[in-house]
Formats: sequence, C-alpha cells, structure tokens
Amino acid sequence: MGPEEFRAAGHELIDWIADYRARIPQLPVQAQVGPGEVAGKLPGRAPEEAEPFGRVLADLESVVVPGVTQIQHPGFFGWFPSNASLGSVLGDLAASGLGALGITWQSAPALTEVEEVVAEWLRELARLPASWKGVIQDGASSGCLVALLAARERATGYGEARGGLQAESAPLTVYTTQHAHSSVPKAAVLAGYGQDNLRFVDVDPVTYAMRPDALASALEADVAAGRRPAAVVASVGTTGTTAVDPVAQIVPLARQYRMWVHVDAAMAGSALLLPEMRWLADGVEGADSLAWNPHKWLGTVLDCSLLYVADPDHLVRVMSTSPSYLRSAVDGQVTQYKDWGIPLGRRFRALKLWFHLRLDGAEVIRARLRRDLANARWLAEQVSSTPGWRVLAPVNLQTVVLRHEPAGVVSGTGAVLDADALNAHTLSWVDSVNASGAALITPSLLEGTWSVRVSIGAEPTERRDVEKLWSLLQQAAGSLGT
Ligand SMILES: Cc1ncc(COP(=O)(O)O)c(C=O)c1O
Repeated sequence: MGPEEFRAAGHELIDWIADYRARIPQLPVQAQVGPGEVAGKLPGRAPEEAEPFGRVLADLESVVVPGVTQIQHPGFFGWFPSNASLGSVLGDLAASGLGALGITWQSAPALTEVEEVVAEWLRELARLPASWKGVIQDGASSGCLVALLAARERATGYGEARGGLQAESAPLTVYTTQHAHSSVPKAAVLAGYGQDNLRFVDVDPVTYAMRPDALASALEADVAAGRRPAAVVASVGTTGTTAVDPVAQIVPLARQYRMWVHVDAAMAGSALLLPEMRWLADGVEGADSLAWNPHKWLGTVLDCSLLYVADPDHLVRVMSTSPSYLRSAVDGQVTQYKDWGIPLGRRFRALKLWFHLRLDGAEVIRARLRRDLANARWLAEQVSSTPGWRVLAPVNLQTVVLRHEPAGVVSGTGAVLDADALNAHTLSWVDSVNASGAALITPSLLEGTWSVRVSIGAEPTERRDVEKLWSLLQQAAGSLGT
C-alpha cells in the first residue's frame, strides 16, 4: 500500500470509527458470539493476492464488531473502565504511522523524550514524589514483575551477577493480600520467590485492606524462621472491592526490614488527579515503586501503564544489557528505556498519552472522574436504602460491590442461611442482565460467596445510565416493587 492508497483507505477508516463510536449505545454490550464463531467466519489461509480495502472494512463491520464486547458502551459496568478516548486513538494512529523503533535513545530520540515528559506531567498531576521517574510499560502486571525483580536484586545485593536466587542462603519472602490482583502472586512466582515464600497477610473484615499488625506478625515469624523479607506489594484500589492498603503504615514496617514497597494503583492511580482523593496515596513517598494504568479509568487506549520508581539507577543496573550494536556516544547522557523493563523494542506508546492529555486536558478528565465517583455514591445509596439489597464493601472509588439477598436465603441480620441458593440466585440474575445486552456487570467471589461488582466509569456513562442499570438490576433479581 502506498501513501495515496493509504490516504483514501485511512479517511474511510476514520469515518468508520467515528460512525461506530456514535452508534455503540445501540449495540449489545456483551459480545454476541460463541466460541469459535469469529474464527469460523475467516478463511483458513492468508490471501495470496491483495484484497480491496472495502472488503476488509466490510468484515470489520460484520465479523469483528459482533465479536467485541462493547467496553466503550454507556451500559458497560464490567471488570474496570478501559476507556479509549478518541484523542488517544489518534495518538496511537500517529505512533503507528511514524513506525518508530524504540530500542535505544538514538533509534528514536523523540520516543524516549516524549515519554519522559508525559511521565513527568502525570507524576506532577498525581502529586507523586518529585524525585520519582516514570516509564511506560505494557501493563501493571509487567510493572509488578519488574518491581519484584528489582526488589529481589536489592535484597540479594545483585545476586543476579553471581548464582542468582539459587545461591542464596535464606529464602526471600514477599507480602501482599488475597485481595491483590492475580498479577501480584504471578509476578512473585515468576520472579523466582516461589509460592512457598509468598504471604497473604490478613485483611480488615470490613475494609478488606491489609492489616499492618498482621503484616508485622508475619514478618516477625518469617525472620524468626530464618527467612528474609524482600518486598511488600500494597494495593491502592484492589480489583475486587477497591480496598486501599494503608501504605503510610506499611512503609515504616518495610523500612525496618529493608524491604521494597511496590504500590499497585493500576485502577486507582487516576483518582490521584483529584486533590480530594489524594488520601489514597498517603505515605506513598516512602515507597520504591508504583504502577498506574492510564489505560484504565484515565482513558488512554490500551496499552499504557506507568511504572514510577524512586531509584532509577538501581532499576537500570538490574535490567541493563549493553550489546555492542546498541552502544552509542550519548550513552550516559540520555535515558535508555530498554533498561527500564523486559522487552528491547518498544512502541511509541507515549504519543497516545500525549495526544490524550493535550486534546482532552486535565480539567475535563478530572470532571469525568468526579462524575463517576458521584455516580457510584448515588448507586450505593439506592442499594443500601432498598430492602433485600446490600452494599458489601466501602465505596472508595467508582466500584459498588453489591448483592441482592432475598428473605429466607439471608436472615434479617444479614447471616447467610443457604449459601448455595444465594450463589445460584446471584449468578442467575447477573446472567440475565448480561444476556439482555443493555448492560454488563461482573460477578466475583467475595470471601467465598458470589457478589456483583458494578464498576462505573466508561467515558459515555452518565447518571441516567446508572439509573437505568439500577432498574435493570432490580428487575433481573425479581425485587422491583418489593
Ligand atoms: C489492581 C490491579 N492491578 C493490576 C492489574 C493488571 O493490570 P494489567 O492488565 O495492566 O496488567 C489490574 C487489572 O485489572 C488491576 O485491577
């Protein structure tokens, strides 16, 4: 495809995207396909001859759209907001158009320096410590893995340059809670600590946040048994209930044991743009690293995850490689992001964040975040004041965790009388909401019983959409008018 053909097809594609975005509210939220249905509509072999663009676009419409769950739908209340602001979509397109190769500073100086600048803009907007430096990773899962690798090397005095973990005399331990995202235990295991050395610290039964006294006891017990505490991962906004681990109380304990503190603020990081939500990050200045996904609630299209570190020199020492073909005269004067993570080749991810921030502006983003927080509070009020319904966790952010608890299955005091019946009821009414196509919500296990997460924050979701959802939930659970 040459530039002129690209121009014509590109205009058509942009028109298609604009029309598609405008009609999302008319589409069912949940993808309407069964397993294998999309693949079954595609030829088994790659084309030998070039196809006209119109045919590709037609398949995008007829095969791909029905096979996509409409995350940008005003009725999307599932997993977490994964907003893809149109400004950031343009930035992503510009990044692809440039076709830049991010392997060293020299291979694309702008790729590195725009990333440094936008990471700094966001650090400042979130009022994270001024000395921290940021890098864009593909996801918070990678951010956590990188942090735990850096923690391992700090605890072992760069054991990677000797016999690695296999040569350590004492096992290194990592601390988090059962409510942390699954990427946290995964990172601990992949970084070589081993499942046996991963501790799930008890949480407060009401807030689901890590209990500092339980962390202190776990640390004492491990040290007494000859183990070496290496890292604690504190969640600021857990996936299940948006619980906030008390970083300010965790940091002094970690200091005592010279442990690394990684803060997983994948979803909640965006709320730090709001001065009234800055409490979420109390104590964060004592942490070593923090991951925050602009590709969630902030609205920068996937994949765009920030990892901030307090000591970039340490990270670079752990991650750096210097093959001869990548060396240059400016090494030492510039940032080489290849040494801040695992992959060598990097996309120009910073452009979508740069476009997003410039085309929307921080004030518009803040107003949207405030709208979502207010909508969550409104829904929580409706739920808690309606008989038979319960809000199951503090509404710290934009997620409401709720359950319909019919009489006979749950007692008047809230005791579950028949857990199987309650689980079957919950899963059944959630299924009927999702099958309706009008909204999508996510069931999740909370302390062993199914609950429902309503995660508010899709870019087009307004109060009227949350009101509609609340009616739909009551209808589906058979409680309307009771
Ligand atoms: C709290 C939390 N941490 C980490 C992750 C993983 O993020 P990513 O998909 O960017 O790896 C998620 C994703 O939902 C999350 O909610």
